[in-house]
Amino acid sequence: MSARHFLSMMDYTPEELGSVIRRGIELKDLRNRGVLFEPLKNRVLGMIFEKSSTRTRVSFEAGMIQLGGQAIFLSPRDTQLGRGEPIGDGARVMSRMVDAVMIRTFAHSNLVEFAAHSSVPVINGLSDDLHPCQLLADMQTFLEHRGSIQGKTVAWIGDGNNMCNSYIEAAIKFDFQLRVACPEGFEPSPAFLALAGDRVSVVRDPKQAVSGAHLVSTDVWTSMGQEEETAKRLALFAPYQVTRQLLDLADKDVLFMHCLPAHRGEEISLDLLDDPRAVPWDQAENRLHAQKALLEFLVEPAYRSA
Ligand code: CP
Ligand code: NVA
Repeated sequence: MSARHFLSMMDYTPEELGSVIRRGIELKDLRNRGVLFEPLKNRVLGMIFEKSSTRTRVSFEAGMIQLGGQAIFLSPRDTQLGRGEPIGDGARVMSRMVDAVMIRTFAHSNLVEFAAHSSVPVINGLSDDLHPCQLLADMQTFLEHRGSIQGKTVAWIGDGNNMCNSYIEAAIKFDFQLRVACPEGFEPSPAFLALAGDRVSVVRDPKQAVSGAHLVSTDVWTSMGQEEETAKRLALFAPYQVTRQLLDLADKDVLFMHCLPAHRGEEISLDLLDDPRAVPWDQAENRLHAQKALLEFLVEPAYRSA
């Protein structure tokens, strides 16, 4: 299958990622100025959600409509994929009808298998391993607020989860240093750490990770699919709460990001999202703009002669 997919940032060059993000900023400006821009008229995005979502669903659906196209929401409850139809068969069928497919799933291998049988682009809307669309938005947000992230220091505090793995990929592609502070046993997967070499270090002490950092980011302690571990995680992660006092140890121009949804009183203090250094709402908005740029990059325009 010849289509270009977006399963991981590792599939893209730094130049491609940079141009998608800069295009996201341009599309944001067009929208803010009320300019109609519909290159994907008559194009359709299929969206398969095996896990819950607010931001990913709304941003992809609104984004397709704003680009002149449409999006179809599918949950496993309503499709044959949820009743055991082979992933490859679903991919073959859907890709004969739609122009791109976004999937939020559990095992990353589901995405890889779908993409292997899809003739249209497949986009990772979050897997147990990665959340690359969120990183497009986070990198756009840093660029807008502080300029290039190249050579900067980023601290990831908490779970070495899908978001953390995507930060590792971003460290490679955008050329920054990443310090991960996590409890023992919750490190990011060795395969991602091995990819990053000395760009990424793992420490136990959040203060050490945050010291002098230009960006601090965290995420929920219990990701979707891990609900049975909630009590154990609450206890183990307690020393990893990000607070205003912790941010005070960072660079004076530090930004704080959270991909949301946030659990105030757990991974962040009750007041952290109200701190002027926190930019979660800009991050969330940029999901829309960055993904519109990604869709424009991946889905060919609709103008074709009959
Ligand atoms: N950040 C993010 O992906 O949010 P949703 O789970 O609401 O899509
Ligand atoms: N790590 C979280 C991210 C949610 C956007 C999860 O997978 O549930």
